[in-house]
Amino acid sequence: MLNCIRSEGCLLSFFFLNALPLMPKSEIMKRKLVVLSGAGMSQESGIRTFRDMGGLWEEYDVAEVATPEAWERNPELVMKFYNDRRKQLYECKPNAGHLGLAELEQDFDVQIITQNVDDLHERAGSTNVLHLHGELKKVRSTRFPDLIYDLEGWELKFGDLCEKGHQLRPHIVWFGEMVPAMDEAVPMVEQADIFVVVGTSLNVYPAAGLVHYIRDDVPIFVVDPERPPVYLKDVTFIEEKAGRGVSMLKEKLKKLT
Ligand code: APR
Repeated sequence: MLNCIRSEGCLLSFFFLNALPLMPKSEIMKRKLVVLSGAGMSQESGIRTFRDMGGLWEEYDVAEVATPEAWERNPELVMKFYNDRRKQLYECKPNAGHLGLAELEQDFDVQIITQNVDDLHERAGSTNVLHLHGELKKVRSTRFPDLIYDLEGWELKFGDLCEKGHQLRPHIVWFGEMVPAMDEAVPMVEQADIFVVVGTSLNVYPAAGLVHYIRDDVPIFVVDPERPPVYLKDVTFIEEKAGRGVSMLKEKLKKLT
């Protein structure tokens, strides 16, 4: 019996060892690197942040453009606000920070959790991107929230309807609305072997609370010219903009391997 188990074990390890060199790098167990990104990530692409000097919330009143009540009261203003953002997005390109994070997929199992509604992580080549606050290039039914569509072009108009005949609205999580993607985000954070925060002031919950699900022994890197409030163990602050900061992060990650 013992012999039998041993020989099966040998056989298994024979196949495993011989299969290893043939396995693509992507199949070999990589460490899970989870990134939480915010508006600062896209600042060097020309997209304004919200709370910095000159940020969007200096020019606009959040309550007037980013709440369900605003959509009720003044849908024209809300529609214009998001149409303007969408139009601008078509003129923007991913920056060195987005590209650097996409390159990390060569060495890590990277999961991006972003508060951003732009698609710059995807356009840079990141393959696992979860949008917590919705997506600018998508629209959804005002009546049936599960009816979500890719919008062609930048302009959503009144009279653009879902397949059941209801007005479409921006696919954005407004203040006061639930953040359904949190259910997916929490287990991702819990599984992280390395955690990276880029360009978020961590002012907005529940997204900001995700850092509390990071396991105790996990190294944390924060890329931001202004330190956000991350009061946890083993935090390395890289006080730089995302472009340069992500390349410095990559150097630091090499030392971890
Ligand atoms: N690179 C990296 N970080 C930067 C850069 C840059 N080039 N420029 C600014 N930052 C940092 C700022 O120092 C700040 O910490 O990015 C952060 C931006 O913070 P916010 O404007 O508060 O944006 P964010 O944290 O993403 O906001 C969260 O609030 O209004 C809502 O729904 C909106 O998703 C958004 C949420």
